[in-house]
Amino acid sequence: ADITTRVEEILNTHKGMEGSLLPILHAIQAEFGYVPQAALPIIAQDLSLSKAEVHGVMSFYHDFREHPAGKHVLKLCRAESCQSMGADRVAAHAQKALGIEWHETTKDGNVTLEPIFCLGLCACGPAAIVDGKLVGRVDEARIDAIIGGLK
Ligand code: FES
Repeated sequence: ADITTRVEEILNTHKGMEGSLLPILHAIQAEFGYVPQAALPIIAQDLSLSKAEVHGVMSFYHDFREHPAGKHVLKLCRAESCQSMGADRVAAHAQKALGIEWHETTKDGNVTLEPIFCLGLCACGPAAIVDGKLVGRVDEARIDAIIGGLK
């Protein structure tokens, strides 16, 4: 089905639900792997919100993608405990090694880099999650190994 049709179907299954914006966004991302731009005005109209409000909620929660992800997704924890263990340095290294910023995907479509906020692995920070798999004690060398393994 095209985007509009699917988004309308998803909106219909959430009709009359209190606080439905987040579940709707999650359902759309589950369906497409991201929240397509074209979905925003449809959602906004359905919930009587402005497009800016929908977009604001999307960017407040770091869970939502505005573009399709690459083949692999590398998420690095940006929360406090990992920060104190050197997460900033690790993030800078990952960005340099991949040649991308947060929320971007390498040109070959292989890797998307995303921030995440606490993976519950604080005791083993800095923490990362690679294609859904948790990795602790991430340093520059481990980043290189992870990236090297993502083919
Ligand atoms: Fe990074 Fe908790 S702060 S896992």
